[in-house]
Amino acid sequence: MERRIETERLILRPLQPGDARDVYEFAGDPRVNRFMPYALYTGIEQAHRWIASQGEDSDEFAFQLKSTGKVIGTGSVGLEEKDGLYHLGYNLNYDYWGRGYATEAARAMIRWAYECKGARDFSASRAVANTASGRVLEKCGFRPDHSGQYSKFDGSETFDALYYRLHLD
Ligand SMILES: CC(C)(COP(=O)(O)OP(=O)(O)OC[C@H]1O[C@@H](n2cnc3c(N)ncnc32)[C@H](O)[C@@H]1OP(=O)(O)O)[C@@H](O)C(=O)NCCC(=O)NCCS
Repeated sequence: MERRIETERLILRPLQPGDARDVYEFAGDPRVNRFMPYALYTGIEQAHRWIASQGEDSDEFAFQLKSTGKVIGTGSVGLEEKDGLYHLGYNLNYDYWGRGYATEAARAMIRWAYECKGARDFSASRAVANTASGRVLEKCGFRPDHSGQYSKFDGSETFDALYYRLHLD
């Protein structure tokens, strides 16, 4: 099944080796990394390694701007074996925030998972302080389900978090 989605302004597709520079641009930006669990990238080779690690069955999409070809973000909607929910996540290059791109990409990934994977129940989470991400989730139809906490993978910081659910018939 081809993993390619077209929206008004974006193409969502698997990551390619040539995307490393664009990925490093946001994965190495502390403003983007602030609430993300993964460590801030400190070199482009980390982007190369991450892209190379994506297998055929990866859930990760590159968000490519149709107008310029630039990859302005990445996201995924993947089945969590432990609870059977499709978990949604995304991050975007800081220069492109506030123009509806994350919402456009998130809606497209949800629709893709619904149509191509049979997904009906979705989950997502965000730091309480990450208001923009909460808006993206609400605009996609997610509703808060419960509170909790999560930590950076290296344990350096812990955030109060809100966990969301979305059910589609
Ligand atoms: C969260 C993120 C993906 C949003 O991307 P985006 O393309 O700017 O999102 P959109 O433009 O689609 O929507 C953002 C919404 O949040 C609102 N918003 C942005 N900053 C806000 C703030 N500080 N307070 C309240 N609302 C805010 C915007 O007004 C918009 O809502 P609206 O359409 O009702 O006006 C982006 O900020 C990002 O990559 N952050 C870093 C990574 C991250 O936190 N990922 C999510 C982890 S849960």
